[in-house]
Amino acid sequence: MPGITIVGSGRYVPDNVVTNTALSRVMDTNDEWIKQRTGIEKRHFAPDGVGASDLAVPASQQAIEAAGLSLSDIDYIIFNTMTPDYVFPGSGALLGAKLGIPGVPALDLRQQCAAMPFSFQVADGLISAGAAKNILVVGAEAHAGFMPWQAWDRLEGRADGPSDPEDFGFATQHRGLSILFGDGAGALVMCKSTTPGAGLLGCKVHTDGRQHDALRVEAAGFRRRPFLTTKMIENNEHVPRMNGRDLFKSAVQKLPQVVRELCAEHAIELDDVDWFIAHQANDRINQAVKEALKLPDHKVPSNIAQYGNTSGATIPILMDELIRAGQIKRGQLLCFLALGAGLNWGAALIRY
Ligand code: ACO
Repeated sequence: MPGITIVGSGRYVPDNVVTNTALSRVMDTNDEWIKQRTGIEKRHFAPDGVGASDLAVPASQQAIEAAGLSLSDIDYIIFNTMTPDYVFPGSGALLGAKLGIPGVPALDLRQQCAAMPFSFQVADGLISAGAAKNILVVGAEAHAGFMPWQAWDRLEGRADGPSDPEDFGFATQHRGLSILFGDGAGALVMCKSTTPGAGLLGCKVHTDGRQHDALRVEAAGFRRRPFLTTKMIENNEHVPRMNGRDLFKSAVQKLPQVVRELCAEHAIELDDVDWFIAHQANDRINQAVKEALKLPDHKVPSNIAQYGNTSGATIPILMDELIRAGQIKRGQLLCFLALGAGLNWGAALIRY
């Protein structure tokens, strides 16, 4: 029986490119540190007022066109984001409206950077259950909204002169977090493959909430009354807190492990996999995964230099680049792997 597969892809990143050197105008950092520690050279930031659902529109339109389908063929949306347009409702509902397909069910998943292995499993379940035929799986992020500086004019070269010491100091406190993230959207159209033996072979996903504070936004949570106060803002609880070292350690340990588990379950040797499509949180994480699994460089593509970590959007953006460049070919075996806040992590195998 064939499984579900990817029949179309698309991507969109906002025009505004911010280099590492530009970041050093708003906090104490530099190009060399960021490149060496993360592999990131630049990222794109969405303009004020542009949300994840807006970024997702062109990516989705491209993916549907590439699949040779029309909007009316899409019968389910799975929307992945950790930076939704609103606390609620979910961005999937907004995307459906913006695409002009009201009535199509839209499910928001909140697996952060681990979005894709979870989405593939959910999409497979929906299609197997007969609830959908052509699913639009989207990842879109507008991280700019949580960046810890006010000095956007300075960052983007519209203002000069001395920086505000308080703003500069605050951004510097959060520099480990803010240098990592960038904005963008990727979309995949998924449906049942028509080729015997092709499609999703399996997924292995995990969640461990004991580490939920390794990356978390303290403010605007409904355990508080009211859920958002000026005091929370004054205390800067709206800026995510990240324990980078813990996440790093978890990623380099859990990602190789979950790939091994999944491949063993499906009697697949690592050598049989053509591409390892890994989330891009830090290039050093992926270097460590490559070493642990003894993977050759050419099987583990990287695009973190251009985009930074685009969280839920990363894997569909990378997939779209590889598909459009003709690098990934039908019949090849793809292994997806990702870890994100939660903690959530997982892997998936697709015979493309
Ligand atoms: N520029 C200059 N110096 C910096 C910067 C910066 N941007 N950030 C930190 N430093 C300094 C620190 O202050 C520290 O200085 P000190 O030694 O004088 O105290 C030094 O550099 C080392 O800091 P570390 O935090 O130990 O740096 P590390 O090598 O761990 O890199 C990083 C930090 C990049 C955050 C790394 O830990 C990482 O990438 N972790 C993984 C994070 C991750 O995966 N997050 C996403 C999760 S996925 C999701 O769901 C969104």
